[in-house]
Amino acid sequence: MRDMGFRGNSRCAFMLLAAWAATACGDDGVKNDPSEADAGPDGGGETDSETGIPVDTEEDARIEAAVDAMLATMTLEQKAAQMTEGQYEDVPASELRTACYGSVFNGGGEAPIGNATPDTLANSLDALQAAAVDGCGIPILYGVDAVHGNAQVTGATVFPHNIGLGATGDPALVEAIGRATAKECRGVGILLNFSPQISVIRDERWGRSYEGFGETPEINRQMASAVIRGLQAGGDLSDPGAVAATAKHFVGDGGTLDGANLGTTAFGMETLRAIHLPPFEAAVDLRVSSIMPSYHQWIRDGQTYEMTFDMLTLNDILIGELGFDGFRLSDYDAVARAEGVERYTDENVRQAITAGIDMSMVAMDSSDWGGTDGIADWMAGIVNGVTQGTIPAERVDDAVRRILRIKHRMDLFSNDFQKAFSNPALRAEIGSAAHMDLARQAVQKSLVLLENSGVLPLSKTEPVIVAGPWAGSMGCQSGGWTVDWQGSHTYGKNKIIGETIIEGMQQVGGSVTYNQDGSGIAAGSTVVVVIGEIPYAEGAGDHHSNDYFAKSPPPSVLLSEQQEYGVLTAALDAGAQVVLVIISGRPLVFDDPRILTDTAAIVAAWLPGSRGIGVADVLYGDAPFSGKLTHTWPRSYDQIPVNVNQQPDEDGVDATAVDVLYEYGYGLTY
Ligand code: GLC
Repeated sequence: MRDMGFRGNSRCAFMLLAAWAATACGDDGVKNDPSEADAGPDGGGETDSETGIPVDTEEDARIEAAVDAMLATMTLEQKAAQMTEGQYEDVPASELRTACYGSVFNGGGEAPIGNATPDTLANSLDALQAAAVDGCGIPILYGVDAVHGNAQVTGATVFPHNIGLGATGDPALVEAIGRATAKECRGVGILLNFSPQISVIRDERWGRSYEGFGETPEINRQMASAVIRGLQAGGDLSDPGAVAATAKHFVGDGGTLDGANLGTTAFGMETLRAIHLPPFEAAVDLRVSSIMPSYHQWIRDGQTYEMTFDMLTLNDILIGELGFDGFRLSDYDAVARAEGVERYTDENVRQAITAGIDMSMVAMDSSDWGGTDGIADWMAGIVNGVTQGTIPAERVDDAVRRILRIKHRMDLFSNDFQKAFSNPALRAEIGSAAHMDLARQAVQKSLVLLENSGVLPLSKTEPVIVAGPWAGSMGCQSGGWTVDWQGSHTYGKNKIIGETIIEGMQQVGGSVTYNQDGSGIAAGSTVVVVIGEIPYAEGAGDHHSNDYFAKSPPPSVLLSEQQEYGVLTAALDAGAQVVLVIISGRPLVFDDPRILTDTAAIVAAWLPGSRGIGVADVLYGDAPFSGKLTHTWPRSYDQIPVNVNQQPDEDGVDATAVDVLYEYGYGLTY
């Protein structure tokens, strides 16, 4: 139990009173002054002509007044607590009653989310929230990575990962997916989503390529806008079905050398502005609630900058130029891990906060990861910094104001904190038929037809063999960030609702037999071979990574290096008519000439998630192929990285300078 010097509950009761006062008059605390001209039902506020987001409204004024009133009651220790996001397993409800942290989170698959049913998770999070509001009068924002649906909750709708959503080219669909995801979060009491990743992916060797929408600023800007609108209920954060979205990772992590996770970028400011910044401009225009700086380092003008400590991007650009008014949330212990320090010190806390970090995601704990009490060290760094004058008190006030502003925009204080808790009506929508239909539609629209000799669409009256374990694995078709952080090919329908590709083909009426290893196939038979990548997340998915969970074989951007590649060659050797369906988080190089010369059709299915039936719909022609590539597909490994609109100081080649296999925007139709 951390002794943070909060004495008893007297202070917290005072805080509660201040919070109550801030909501007792009017919605958010400013007494309605009868002398004010009637501004009409909507407060007479303006809406942004481009985004339609309400801006500078009376609501904003009311919220700012409520925030200021609350800030004025807070001690330095309480401000430091609001700037803290603790990990669930390190923050028991008993501590939260007096600790008054601003947020609690769990990393991928960690307690209480992994293997939790909606009801058990809601109970766990409501218990935390009750401690926070009873003890401190300020609700916590509970945060998770719901990056393709709230996919770590058993029974949730698992949507295609972003690379597939980018291929749909359908922002309205992506917005609807954001909306559904937000509802499946609020149903269990999750208020903050560490999503979307809007990195512009310039090197598919990065293990996080599938979390982005594609290789251009345009597709990421378009889809970031769509999903943020969905997650944030069109900009009305007070909607019970809205979550605070987090645009990540700021900025340029899709362009590291060799696509290395936690790597280094070396392009100049012009490239940052031309390629990597535009999606964040769109996110800020839509009043995204939070922005997560990246772990990586940026070499500019001969100096190396930690993005977590970079005042130029975090303050001068993000605040000074773009006018971001939400909070900047560090990545997982990024403050402590920068420059290899591996613990929170007064110095790295000072560097982070003065550069612009408003809240730290703290997982380091004396009992497990890191071996030190990260929360105590982080908070001590803030208190010491302000006390010693190395951190301006105004900077801490600004950080806390940004955090409280989002909590007020979410209307978490009114009606006895009702919206701070799980919402049973929205919980009923978790895995609902409507959400599952939306996921099926998304799968259909995400598929990209790369080759077709005429074998597609399949006939439901003709016998078809389906080969390859990926055809029968919910875990493989869902990829990372599903059930837990890394995902797994072992995860089945007891954890991920929906159906596999083979089940989908059977359900739509195909005459299908399953031959998992592709053995004994008769010449001339029609075989759908489903192979691809094993599930992975972050650095564990880097090309030939031996990171964290060294996977065997290590992830690879070469198709022939995938597990079960032998199923394809067995079918080809048997003289079958092969439809190759690739399950992957990125384009894979066809490094075996037979892939192009001997197959009858090739489909990029990305990571479709819950609805394998969406693949069946399109293979049988019940739905059209409409997906288009959002990545240039290299013809050989040595072309990587290869992108459209290559900048002079980017690593790699321009797509127009080499003979790529498929161009950006390519996709056949029936
Ligand atoms: C990870 C990721 C970040 C994620 C966070 C919490 O390290 O970099 O995208 O939101 O930690 O899981």
